Amino acid sequence: MGQYSIPAFNEFIDEMHEHFAKGLPEVEQWEGVRPLLRKLISDDALLEASKGWERKKGREYILHHDPEYDFFVGALVREPKHTAMAHDHGPTWTIYGVLDGQEVTHVYERTDDGSKEGYAELELKVRSDAPAGTVDIVPPHIPHAENGNSPRSVAITVRTTKPGSYDQVMFNLETGKTGTSRGLVLVPLAI
Ligand SMILES: [Fe+2]
Repeated sequence: MGQYSIPAFNEFIDEMHEHFAKGLPEVEQWEGVRPLLRKLISDDALLEASKGWERKKGREYILHHDPEYDFFVGALVREPKHTAMAHDHGPTWTIYGVLDGQEVTHVYERTDDGSKEGYAELELKVRSDAPAGTVDIVPPHIPHAENGNSPRSVAITVRTTKPGSYDQVMFNLETGKTGTSRGLVLVPLAI
């Protein structure tokens, strides 16, 4: 028996522990989360449970914050026509799996030399459809935006650590202005 009511979620946490116990190099470690998360988001019981999660802008649900390895598992429930400002996740990794609905992912590349404080030029590199079942990897400091493309979408995030403890850069694509954020409002959710 694990600590959660959804068996696939307990299994996921067990598999994450086994995976992190290997002490792999950073890139390999995070790429190795992809198949684990892909399996988790194919689970019908998790999908069923997620239908009851309240949809609210600016909120991220806390599903698990690991006491041993510090990784964080969250959930985002997107509103209709949700558009995210381009942003990065600072020094942390995020493995991002779409559990329900449809999203569109944009990945940008910085084209200026970073010498001007509070300013950045970004170029769109990839725009990809992200239907349910898609898992994207967002390495540290990569500007991107995940937008909703259906009336409601749900994503599961697996992060290096709990958000709020590091600065994220927010990019205004029109003016080039940048700012920092400490992320979304975190709300515990029992699953
Ligand atoms: Fe993001």
